[in-house]
Amino acid sequence: MEVVVLPTYAEMSKAAAQIVADVLNTKPNAVLGMATGSTPLGLYQELVRMHREEGLDFTQVTTFNLDEYVGLRPNHSQSYHYFMQENFFKHVNMAAGNIYIPSGTTSNYRSFCEWYERRIQECGGIDVQILGIGSDGHIAFNEPGSSLSSRTRLKTLAQSTIEDNARFFERKEDVPIYAITMGVGTILEARTLVLCASGQNKAAAVAAMVEGPVTSMNTASALQLHPEARVFLDESAAGHLKMREYYDWVKKMKPGAPKV
Ligand code: F6R
Repeated sequence: MEVVVLPTYAEMSKAAAQIVADVLNTKPNAVLGMATGSTPLGLYQELVRMHREEGLDFTQVTTFNLDEYVGLRPNHSQSYHYFMQENFFKHVNMAAGNIYIPSGTTSNYRSFCEWYERRIQECGGIDVQILGIGSDGHIAFNEPGSSLSSRTRLKTLAQSTIEDNARFFERKEDVPIYAITMGVGTILEARTLVLCASGQNKAAAVAAMVEGPVTSMNTASALQLHPEARVFLDESAAGHLKMREYYDWVKKMKPGAPKV
């Protein structure tokens, strides 16, 4: 796992966006895994800037989102469909037919989830999966206790996640209780994982993910099992890391390392 600590949220977002851009520049038809929430907003803004100013092209790109709230229609202002449209898709040149987001309103969740998994495979698998982390250590909506080999399925949100996400809704009671989410096993099959975390309220979960045991109690810790997991943190999210000096040393020495 590569751990890169940057002074600010903006620098963290740029570094993570550069990974995505590098992949698109070598593989224009790459498959991207998308996350929602506050954390990837800066990353998406940077990709949009690269699209506008540097011609970063999305015409051949396919995307699969991690998750969606159950019960919210795509045009609901807090649905992840809406989030993606407003914060990313409408600003770049993606083909609408290449966008996949779990349905929060399907009549058959089981068969939808199976189809979603199949579709990822048919599209060649995910090249880069963008991730955030919950304050309880979740990735996507794989709450503590989720199997580390889980696949796309319906999940009940943890009460702490409902509280964390209440900031986006008028009332806490409006936060959906269920979500459809890629599993940890689904996520681990992506070729590269890029996880971003910002802010003090993520510091404990980040330390457990990076330096704690691999455990379903912090599903992000499963990134330790992935050969290409890259973690980008701002100063405050890195606040509880014990090996901080080593991560900084590796970052400083990286330009001189033999090319592999
Ligand atoms: C959203 C997702 C979640 C978020 C996590 C952090 O698609 O998969 O795991 O990444 O809840 O959310 P923020 O970034 O809002 O703190």
